[in-house]
Amino acid sequence: MAVKNTVYDKGWARTHRCGELRAEHAGQEVVLNGWVHRRRDLGGLIFIDLRDRAGVVQVVCDPSADPDVAEVAKALRGEYVVGVCGTVQPRGEGNVNAEMATGEIEVAASSLALFNVAETPPFEPRDDTNASEELRLEYRFIDLRRAKMQANLMLRHVATLAARNFLNEEGFVEIETPVLTRSTPEGARDFLVPSRISKGSFYALPQSPQLFKQILMVSGFDRYVQLARCFRDEDLRANRQPEFTQIDIEMAFVEPDDIFDVVERLMAGLYKILGEAVEPPFAVMPYREAMDRFGSDRPDLRFGLELVDLTERVRDCGFRIFSETAKSGGAVKGIAVPGGANLSRKQIDEAEAIAKTHGAKGLAWVKWGEAGFTGPAAKFLGDETCEALFADGACEPGAAMLMVADRWRTACEALGALRLHLARQMEIVDEGALKFLWVVDFPLFEEDDEGRPTPMHHPFTSPNPEDLDLLESDPLAVRSRAYDLVLNGEEIAGGSIRIHDREVQQRVFKALGIGPEEAEAKFGFLLKALSYGAPPHGGIALGWDRITAMLAGEEAIRSVIAFPKTTSATCLMTNAPAEVDEQQLGELGIKLDLD
Ligand code: AMO
Ligand code: AMP
Repeated sequence: MAVKNTVYDKGWARTHRCGELRAEHAGQEVVLNGWVHRRRDLGGLIFIDLRDRAGVVQVVCDPSADPDVAEVAKALRGEYVVGVCGTVQPRGEGNVNAEMATGEIEVAASSLALFNVAETPPFEPRDDTNASEELRLEYRFIDLRRAKMQANLMLRHVATLAARNFLNEEGFVEIETPVLTRSTPEGARDFLVPSRISKGSFYALPQSPQLFKQILMVSGFDRYVQLARCFRDEDLRANRQPEFTQIDIEMAFVEPDDIFDVVERLMAGLYKILGEAVEPPFAVMPYREAMDRFGSDRPDLRFGLELVDLTERVRDCGFRIFSETAKSGGAVKGIAVPGGANLSRKQIDEAEAIAKTHGAKGLAWVKWGEAGFTGPAAKFLGDETCEALFADGACEPGAAMLMVADRWRTACEALGALRLHLARQMEIVDEGALKFLWVVDFPLFEEDDEGRPTPMHHPFTSPNPEDLDLLESDPLAVRSRAYDLVLNGEEIAGGSIRIHDREVQQRVFKALGIGPEEAEAKFGFLLKALSYGAPPHGGIALGWDRITAMLAGEEAIRSVIAFPKTTSATCLMTNAPAEVDEQQLGELGIKLDLD
């Protein structure tokens, strides 16, 4: 006969969590609520590993002592929900399990209640599960029972609380801003929400609370913070979700170093949770230098393998791709790989493929081996130029120089990607290190595919006052007052000093090809606010999913988000996004045309 479910009442209220019990609890009568992690029937005794969010404890049921306990214990299966009343007892000598936090004790059950049954789960919620990511996301409620996922979400909670408390002490006021709003451009596509009341009009979900936080500075709040959900319809990767969380900060009457100071102390406080020391102030590097030396605006400083500029050394060489690039204003950059003379053909082909996916037209290489300089480029370059390539002194025989000739930025970025690949391959990344870096002096604009200026950050970033005169004559040369915080090669925060002068804002719109009418239509409310006493202000947003993932030692931000989306922006548990019925579309005045 099937065991009936017991109706839960306070008589079954737990006295402890399973994972909290220790040797010091021996002799105590306890009540536990949890899930059956594992059940072993040894004929005489039945052992149940009972799990809750604090961990797992062994419960031992002796069927010969109590027939009721025996009946329930026999019926239990994995993931059944139960209550246990019993006495904590030390495990006998030889039965102590050093692998378990609760391994010195067990609970001898005196009564057992079944609250609910469970179907056989598609995978067991264990950290060593080999279930596919798809299955885990579809059955996220089971996946989240795994100890690592529980620990990740708890760590996120603790970190969030610590950040909130710290910022509160620093005088920040937490203010909520709308989710149904107008477009706040951050360089991605908007998610749109159709309006039923104003048919044909759409709200945009905020890509960030950028304009609202600036307006709160105009309103005099002086120090604002929000744990803000942001929405961006962009290509997704391991560190990008269509909705994600920022710790969004804005401050009035500040210079960049005031903002750096707050963020550095915040980061130090977060790593203190893990018992790791972080020492402000963090290093600062201009964008140009980061690109030149590391081929990235978010350099990973945990290893060397810096790029070298070879442009001058190859200007007059016999390799036409190089000399012509040098003479036409491009750059020839290289990475000297210690021991690279041993790189196999396959490794070089792999390296070339990586350079090419990052925009390079090819990858030239010279090996400096026992037979002198070899490689297809060596004979065109000649011995003298080859010697010059390695002339830094940083290189020894046995090295190889991998080179790209292109526009400066492309050459840097292609080799920057290659640098990361090589470092992983060579296993030279110091995994335990925490390398924080502020990247500053970004250009205000970059060129889009059609050669027009687009904002490198967002259009509300202040130009460097020294470059203001270039705004019309040479917009691409204007530096901004933007900064990013990079940790171990990952961009974890970005911000800037803002434009607080209406006229400068209008000039920046103009440089972006946004005429006065369009500016008025899209950002009139901002321009109006700037006209009514806007203080100098600036701020930053911390990518909270990325930061908590790094704290948890996880590669993907999915691992610190309870219900994430896949890289095709779907939720496998709820099956969002989903179709809606005709009537709902009709109310919104929407007709689908899917061809
Ligand atoms: P930015 O666009 O640089 O700045 O965003 C700030 C930080 O948010 C994180 N981030 C993301 N995390 C997960 N998924 C995404 N799709 C995603 N996109 C960005 C990054 C990034 O550093 N309003 C400005 C901030 C400001 O100027 O104050 C902004 O949103 O870690
Ligand atoms: P090609 O003349 O295109 O066959 O190229 C000869 C060699 O130079 C090949 O190894 C290419 O990968 C390499 N190469 C071509 N273009 C570039 C470039 N812009 N920078 C570096 N190497 C290149």
